[in-house]
Amino acid sequence: MVTSAALNHEALLSWTRAHPFASLFTLLVLYITYKLALRPILFPSPYLLLPRPVRASYILGQRVVEAKGSTFTDPTTGTRTLISGPGEVTKHYAQTLHTGVFVFPEPFGGETLHISDPYALNAILSDIDTFQSDLLRSTIIEFIVGNGIVTRYGDAHRKQRRLMAPAFTPAHLKGLMPVFAKYADRMCDKIDRQDGERVDFGEYLDVTMLDIIGLAGFGYDCRALERGRDGSELSSAFNSVNQAAIDFGIGRAIHLGLSAMLYPKACKWPLSEANRRIEKVNRVMDRISMSIVKEAKRSVVAEGEDLGDKKDLLSLLVKSNLSAGAGERMTDREIAGQIQTFMFAGYETSSVTTSWALYFLSRHSTIQSKLRRIIEEVVKDRKGVSLEELSAGMLDYDDVWCDELRYLDHILAETLRLCPPVPGNDREATSDAVLPLMTPVQLKDGRSIDKLVVKKGSRVTIGIKTVNYDRRLFGEDANEFRPERFEDLPQAHADAKLPPYAMYSFVGGPKSCIGSKFALTEMKVLLIAVLARFEVSAEPGLEIRQHQALIVRPRVENATDGPAAGMPLRIKRLPHKTTL
Ligand code: HEM
Repeated sequence: MVTSAALNHEALLSWTRAHPFASLFTLLVLYITYKLALRPILFPSPYLLLPRPVRASYILGQRVVEAKGSTFTDPTTGTRTLISGPGEVTKHYAQTLHTGVFVFPEPFGGETLHISDPYALNAILSDIDTFQSDLLRSTIIEFIVGNGIVTRYGDAHRKQRRLMAPAFTPAHLKGLMPVFAKYADRMCDKIDRQDGERVDFGEYLDVTMLDIIGLAGFGYDCRALERGRDGSELSSAFNSVNQAAIDFGIGRAIHLGLSAMLYPKACKWPLSEANRRIEKVNRVMDRISMSIVKEAKRSVVAEGEDLGDKKDLLSLLVKSNLSAGAGERMTDREIAGQIQTFMFAGYETSSVTTSWALYFLSRHSTIQSKLRRIIEEVVKDRKGVSLEELSAGMLDYDDVWCDELRYLDHILAETLRLCPPVPGNDREATSDAVLPLMTPVQLKDGRSIDKLVVKKGSRVTIGIKTVNYDRRLFGEDANEFRPERFEDLPQAHADAKLPPYAMYSFVGGPKSCIGSKFALTEMKVLLIAVLARFEVSAEPGLEIRQHQALIVRPRVENATDGPAAGMPLRIKRLPHKTTL
C-alpha cells in the first residue's frame, strides 16, 4: 500500500529534479534562516551573563560602530570624544565596562569574546592546540600570504618553527648587521640629497625595509630604495597582492560574509576582481619563490657547513632542513611559502613601527635630545667616533643591544605599546577550556568569576591594543608616550607576567613573533642612523592617525587631496661627514 507520506516524498523529488536551481535556492534560504534565526534560539549563547555593549545592529553587530566610530561623553567632565580607529572601539568598551573580558556583538547575532586580562591571554597564547586561527581567517591569510608558518598549528607548526628558529638567534642576527647598516646608510644618504626639509619617512622606510627583508630574508635584491616598491618582479608582485587584499568593495564584503556563514574556504574563490588579481599574482610569486629556493639549495650544498657569505634567513632554513630527519623536513613548496611570509610579516610591521617612533620623537623634542645624547656617548665609548663621524656600518650587534642604550629599547617598546601594527588577533577554541583571570569579572547577575569557561567553537580576540593601554599594568598615564615608564612599571605589571618586551605587540607563547629580535635590531640601526644625521620635528598642521590597512599604518588625515598614507616630518640636517 502506498502511503500519502511516500507520495509527498515522490512529488518533492520529482519537483526537485525538474527545478534544480530553485531547489538549491530554497535549501540555501532554509539554511541561512536556521543559522541566523533558529540556531540562536535553539542554542542560546553561553555568555549571556558576561559584560557586553548594547548591540548596535543585528545585521552588522558592533562592526558598524568600528566602521563609523562612536561619540562618547565622559559622565564626569561632559567632554565628548569620537572613538574611532584600529582597536579603539574594543579598548573603549573594555575601559568603560571595567572588564578584561566582554562579549563583542558580531554580524547576524554572532559574538566574539574580547579578552585583555593578562592571565587569560597568557593561557590562550600558550595553548595553541586549543586556541587556533579560525578557518575563515587562516584561509584568507593563506590565500594572501601563501603556505607559510603563520597559518600552521599543531605538529605542522612545531616542525616549521623548530627548523626556522636557528635563523632568528642573536648569533645569526649578528651576521645580518651589515645588511641593516647598508640600507640604513643608503636611506639617510638619499634623504640628505633630496631637496627641502619635508621628508615622508613612511615612504622611505617602506622601501628600505623591503630591501632589508629581501636581502636579509632570502638573499634577493628588491631594489626598492633605488627604483621604488615595484623595483623588482618579486616586490612588484607582492605589492599587487597587498593592494588587492585591501581593496574592499561591496561585492567582496558580501562574498566574505557569505563564505563566513556557509563555507569559509569559498572566500578564496575567484568571485571578485580582487580575488582574481590575487590568484594571478600569486602564481608569479610562486614561480619566483620556487626559483629562489632552488638557488638557495644549490648554493648551500656548494658552500658547505659555514654557508660562505650566505647569511640570509632562507639559506639558514634550507641548511637546517637539509640536515633534518626525513619526517621532519619541509617540502620545497613549504620553504618557498616562508618567503612570502617573511615579506608579509616582516617588512611593513617594522617600517610602520620605525615611522611611529620617529613620529613620537618629532613630538617630544626632549626625549629626542636625550636619546641622541645617549647614542653619542655610546658610540664615543664603544667606537671612539663622534656622531658626526658615525655611519651605521660601524655598528656591531652588541653595540645596539648594550645596556647603555636601554633607553632606545624603551622608546621602541613604548612605540609598539601605543601603536601595535596588529591591534588584535582572533582565535577559535577547538575544545572547551577554562582560563584563569587576574582580575575577577563581574557578571550581570551580581556574581563575579575568577575563571572563564570558554566553550568549544567560541571565537576569542586577543585584545593586544586593549591590554597595551591597561592603566593597571602601565600606569594612570598609559595613553601618553613616556618611555621612562619601562624603568618603573607598577607591581601589577610584574604580577601579570607579560611576554618578552613587556607588552603584547609581538603576542606571546609558541606562536609569538619569531622575528621580534630581527625587527628590533633593524629598527635600532635605522633610528640610530637617522638621529645621527637629522633632527626631526612635526610638519605643522598635519594630523597623522593610525589607520587599518592590512596592518595598522600611519595616515595623514588632512592631506590636500584627502587622507593619504605616510609619515611626513620636518628634518634639520645635522653636521655630518657623509658616507656619500
Ligand atoms: C615591529 C615588527 C613586528 C611586529 C609588531 C610583529 C608582530 C607579529 C605578530 C602579532 C605575530 C602573530 C601573528 C598571528 O598569530 O597571526 C607575528 C608572527 C610572525 N612574525 Fe612578526 N612582527 C614583526 C616583525 C617581524 C619580522 C621582521 C619578521 C621576519 C623577519 C617576522 C616574522 C613573523 C613570523 C614568521 C610570524 C609567524 C610565527 C608563527 O606562526 O610561529 N615578524 N608577528
